[in-house]
Amino acid sequence: MEFGRMLHGGDYNPEQWLDRPDILDEDIRLMKEAHINCVTLGVFSWSVLEQSEGAFCFEWLEEMIDRLYREGIFTILATPTGGMPHWLTEKYPEVRQVQADGRRKLPGKRHNFCYTSPKMREMSGKIDRKLAQMSLRHEGIIMWHISNEMGGNFSDGACHCEQCQEAFREWLKKKYKTLEALNRAWWTVFWSHVYTDWTQIHSPVPHGENLLHGLNLDWRRFVTCQMTEFLKWEIASLREYSSLPVTTNFMYFFKNLDYYKMQKELDVVSWDSYPFWHKEKDETSMAVKAAACHTMMRSMKKEPFMLMESTPSVINWRINNPVKRPGMHMLSSMQAVAHGSDTVQYFQWRKGRGSFEKFHGAVLDHKNGGSTRTFRDVAGVGERLAKTEGLILKSCNKPEIAMIFDWENWWAVEDATGPRLDMDYKKTFLQHYRAFWEAGLDVDIVSMDYELTGYRIVAAPLNYLYRKGYAEKIEKYVREGGTYITTYWSGIVDENDLCFTGEHPLEKVLGICQEEIDAPGEEFGNSITFHGKVYQTGNLCEVIHSKGAQTISAYLEDFYAGAPAVTENCYGGGKAYYLAAEFEQGFLNDFYRGRALEAGIENPLRTHLPYGVTTALRKGEKDLIFLQNFNDSRVLVETPGRYEEADSKMIMSGEIWLNPFECKILTEV
Ligand code: GLA
Ligand code: ZN
Repeated sequence: MEFGRMLHGGDYNPEQWLDRPDILDEDIRLMKEAHINCVTLGVFSWSVLEQSEGAFCFEWLEEMIDRLYREGIFTILATPTGGMPHWLTEKYPEVRQVQADGRRKLPGKRHNFCYTSPKMREMSGKIDRKLAQMSLRHEGIIMWHISNEMGGNFSDGACHCEQCQEAFREWLKKKYKTLEALNRAWWTVFWSHVYTDWTQIHSPVPHGENLLHGLNLDWRRFVTCQMTEFLKWEIASLREYSSLPVTTNFMYFFKNLDYYKMQKELDVVSWDSYPFWHKEKDETSMAVKAAACHTMMRSMKKEPFMLMESTPSVINWRINNPVKRPGMHMLSSMQAVAHGSDTVQYFQWRKGRGSFEKFHGAVLDHKNGGSTRTFRDVAGVGERLAKTEGLILKSCNKPEIAMIFDWENWWAVEDATGPRLDMDYKKTFLQHYRAFWEAGLDVDIVSMDYELTGYRIVAAPLNYLYRKGYAEKIEKYVREGGTYITTYWSGIVDENDLCFTGEHPLEKVLGICQEEIDAPGEEFGNSITFHGKVYQTGNLCEVIHSKGAQTISAYLEDFYAGAPAVTENCYGGGKAYYLAAEFEQGFLNDFYRGRALEAGIENPLRTHLPYGVTTALRKGEKDLIFLQNFNDSRVLVETPGRYEEADSKMIMSGEIWLNPFECKILTEV
């Protein structure tokens, strides 16, 4: 998606200030000063746009769009379904969600509509079509923003009303055809829970069935599917009149919705990023998390994404909300760009005077207009984007490494009882991702469904669930020369969460056989040696034996001392590695660095980066290296190359000094 500009802007809620023309004037003046070229309007405007059923009032919005456009500011227009007006919830109570405990939610708050309700579809369809018709009159509108953070306020990501239960049963009928097939897939003979009628099936709830893994997994699939249906409905309503591109703002690794599935309906992926900067003095783990998320959003379509929201200063919903230290606003904005964002957008332009978000950071505070540190920081980002957009817009990251992150795997591995109750897929994934980040290596983060041909390395940590066809895909990938790395507790169950019997689906590729998995107590720590160093194992140690694989490292302690802990197997033209245990970070860094070197992959500065420093590479007419320093101190990066700094045009070679929280954009010369 290209708008010809790096978009810089954010959520703007002029409807909260319609009685203050002076404020609206000031907004425009200061937006221009801050190099804002786009705003998102209408995210929560339903009650102002439709004041009672059918009483539409768009004048203020239309005026605003035109006025902004005259000043060179584009509008991303939202559909208003994120928050429901009181007349709607009062007149049609069935649009309100039912919680897992069976109680219907009372009106208020947001993101809490029933996504199955035909009435909700009718009402959202009506206003969306009206907005789409209206959009034809206004050139300033460049894109649609569907609803807001869909599913974002659900305690368990779902509506449990009767209409949703019925829809779930229909969904299951389509999937399984017969109850016999469902009973087999869910293993319901266990505890005598064979279903004899579709109506006996109910969503998983705390006071009912919630221990049937097959049910839990299908329910989660259904929730994504149903929410996606709602998304599709809104898109189709707009499409009756408008052909502008659509997006919806995703959140962080949000467990309740499989974003790889939802994104298929969108023209461009966008997301809202709120890292907890300055939680600790060492910002690295936060930088790693944010980088992983940006990376995943780009990888979904393998195209630039949009940073739809971020805070210019503080947020207000954590126990403590640190302000961004000098340099961090620029760095965190550029970090998104480094990983493939073509926008930097904020929540929000101006702080409201009342209610829940009155102390959430915004470009403009309640006082002081443009004379604030935050405002200057924002203007700085806008200026830099405008200066470098010519280069950036023609580029995108194209890594040679892929990591598998998969929602169904996430749901299943954490729902299973055993081998530990605190299995944490995201945390494990991020430990592995961190090894690449610390080495300054870009990766793609994709689900099990993506094509893997072309990557030199594929890493799939904690890949517990294999969907149909996945093992065959990996077999082919390795046979044709790829390097595959996976870990303990992989290939355990199929897509129904039923355990594989016989052998591991990739036994021949991995050349190992899993025997038992140990979740040792704290006093039973184990270790290995690798490249002459001793590394500790973590909370899970699988006992495996070789079926042809070579042992690279073996356990040093306990009754399984001497058993393989890290193996390598040559298969066809490629190689497969198995990490039988959870390991400390140092090992993962060392191990993955080795695999990358072996595959001929280096970071773009061809150097060992100091701690807290990373690189990301946007390839294009000119390759852009984003060299980022997440240390609050100056660091020296030594490199054999010669580079030009994109902003200053200064030439640097040999030694590059980075200021605290600095991001340099470099091209090799
Ligand atoms: C989310 C929402 C916004 C706002 C911010 C505050 O991203 O989409 O409407 O509530 O959080 O952090
Ligand atoms: Zn419902």
